[in-house]
Amino acid sequence: MTLDAHSLRCTECGTGIPGDAVASDFRCPNCQGLYEVVYPWSATQNLSSTVNDTRFPNPSALRWLWQERRTSTLPIDQSGVWRFRDLLPIVKPESIVTLREGNTPLYDLPRCAAAAGIDWLLAKHQGMNPTGSFKDTGMTAALSVAAERGFQWVACASTGNTSAAMAAYAARAGLRSIVFIPDGKIAWGKLAQSMDYGALTIQLKTDFDGCVRILTDLVRRFPIYLLNSVNPYRLEGQKTPAFEIVEQLDGQVPEHIIVPGGNLANSAALGKGFTEMHQLGLIPHKPKISIIQAEGANPLYRWFTDSNRIMRPVTAETRATAIRIGNPASWRKAAAVIDDLGGWCEQVSEQEIALAKAQIGAEGVGCEPASAVALAGIKKLVELGKVTREERAVLILTGNTLKDPQYTIDYHRGELLTAEELAGATPQQRAQHAALAKPPIVLEADPDTVLRTLEAHMRAEPVPQPV
Ligand code: F0G
Repeated sequence: MTLDAHSLRCTECGTGIPGDAVASDFRCPNCQGLYEVVYPWSATQNLSSTVNDTRFPNPSALRWLWQERRTSTLPIDQSGVWRFRDLLPIVKPESIVTLREGNTPLYDLPRCAAAAGIDWLLAKHQGMNPTGSFKDTGMTAALSVAAERGFQWVACASTGNTSAAMAAYAARAGLRSIVFIPDGKIAWGKLAQSMDYGALTIQLKTDFDGCVRILTDLVRRFPIYLLNSVNPYRLEGQKTPAFEIVEQLDGQVPEHIIVPGGNLANSAALGKGFTEMHQLGLIPHKPKISIIQAEGANPLYRWFTDSNRIMRPVTAETRATAIRIGNPASWRKAAAVIDDLGGWCEQVSEQEIALAKAQIGAEGVGCEPASAVALAGIKKLVELGKVTREERAVLILTGNTLKDPQYTIDYHRGELLTAEELAGATPQQRAQHAALAKPPIVLEADPDTVLRTLEAHMRAEPVPQPV
C-alpha cells in the first residue's frame, strides 16, 4: 500500500482532490462541505469482487499482522492506532508522532447493565489514552500529517480534550501549538494539561462555537495547521477503536455502539472504521451506532426528531462541558452514520448524566461527564426497545474521570444538581443518587470517633454482593 493511495473526497458534492491540495480550513471550495479520506477500497461494497485484486489488503493477513505487531517493541507497532497503519496509509512510518495511544481496555459493566435493564454491557474506555481522552487516537494521525508537511504551528478550538491532546503531540514533535478555549467553561484538568505541555493557551470570551469561528478566520490568514475534527486525518485515527473492539471480542461484532455526541466527529469516525472493516471482509456485518447528546446541547437530537430533518444550531448549555457545542461541524457525517448503520439519537438530562457518571464510577471504572451520557442514553434506548436485553452493546467512554474532578466532588457533596433538576428524577433515580453519593467525612483525629463512625456506616451500608 503506497502513500499516494489515499485522496480526499468531499462528503457533500463528491469532488476528489489529492491529500496535499486541501485548503487551510479543510472545507471544499465548491460547497463548503467536509472531506473524508478515501482509499482504493473505499468505494467497494464488499470484498467478493476484489479478492484477487492486489490493491486490496487480505483480511486474514491483516488480522495476523495486527496481532503480531502487539509483541513488537517498535513505537509504531506499540501504538494502538499505527498498529493498523495498513488501513491508514496517510504518512511515511518515519514521520509518525506517537505516545503509544490506543490499545484501550474493554471493560464489562455488570451493575450498569442491570441498571439499564440488559444482560450485559461493555465499555471501551478511550479515557485510558495517554492524555486521558479519545482525542489522542485522532491527534497522532493528524499531527503526524502536520509534521510531515513541514508545518511549525498547529492550532485548535476546543472544549478541552482536543487541546490537551494537541498540546502533547505537538510538544513531542517539536511543533508550537495554539489553543483556543471558551473562557471559564472547561474542566481544570484539561486547562492544566494544555499549559503543562507548553501550548499557547488563549481563553476567548465566547463559547466553543465562537472559538471555532475565530480560528477558522485565522487559519485562512496565517500558515497554521488546523487540528479540529474538520481535519479528516483526525477521523482516520479515531476509526481505529472500531478495529480494537472487534479484536477484543475475538472477531465478533457487537450489535450496538453508543457514542456521546458533541461536534459529532467521533461517531462519524467509528462509523467509517466499521464500514471499512465490512468493505474489506474483516467483519460480516456492521453494528448500529447510536448517538447521545445532553439536553442543553442537542442539535442532532432536534434534527433527528424533526419531521423535516432540518439542522438548527442551538446555544449550548450543559455541565458536561466537553460536549457544550451548539453548531456541530460534522453533523452531516454523523447523521449519515445513524442512517447507514441503523442507529438512533437520544438526549439526556443533567440529572441523568450525573447519575450515570456515578454508576460508572461505582464500577471502579469512572469517566468524565460527557462520557456518562452514553450510559444515560442506553437506558432510554432500552426503554424505547431500540436495544434489546440480549444484545451486546458497547459504550464509548470518551474521557477519564480525572479530567473534571470538580464535577465529581460537587456531585458527591450534593452541590451539583439544583432542586429543580432533582425534582425531575423518578423515585428510583432519587434512591440511586442517595445510595451512590459518597461525601467526604471530616472527623477529629481520635480513634474512638473514627470507630463509631465506621460502625454506623457498616450498619447503614451492607457490603455489596458480587454480581
Ligand atoms: N466526549 C468527550 C470527553 C469530548 O471531549 C468530546 C469532544 C466528545 C465526547 C464529543 O465528541 O465532538 O467528536 O462528537 N470534545 C471536543 C474537544 C469538542 O474540543 O475536546 P465529538
